[in-house]
Amino acid sequence: MPKLIVVTREGEETIVEGETGLTVMEVIRDNGFDELLALCGGCCSCATCHVYVDEEFADQLPAMSEDENDLLDSSDHRTDLSRLSCQIPFSAALDGIKVTIAPED
Ligand code: FES
Repeated sequence: MPKLIVVTREGEETIVEGETGLTVMEVIRDNGFDELLALCGGCCSCATCHVYVDEEFADQLPAMSEDENDLLDSSDHRTDLSRLSCQIPFSAALDGIKVTIAPED
């Protein structure tokens, strides 16, 4: 299974394996990272699954929808690397991507 590197808010890095077909949010949550709240369950309506993605993989990621863009705008911690992890399908092409859980808003 492809690997995902998860960096917590405290800077702790963990490598987990993720099933393809899940979203990055689901892979993070299923591996027990409780600080990624993902309150809406992946409906793109809460922004509590905010992560910073690996710049190297930027061109492998799906384009951002208007809804995702609007939600990220509501975060005080948005950067150029911000994405909602529930909007990123995990795939073999993302093997080795590093995602950092963004600070809580
Ligand atoms: S889980 Fe709510 S927007 Fe991603």
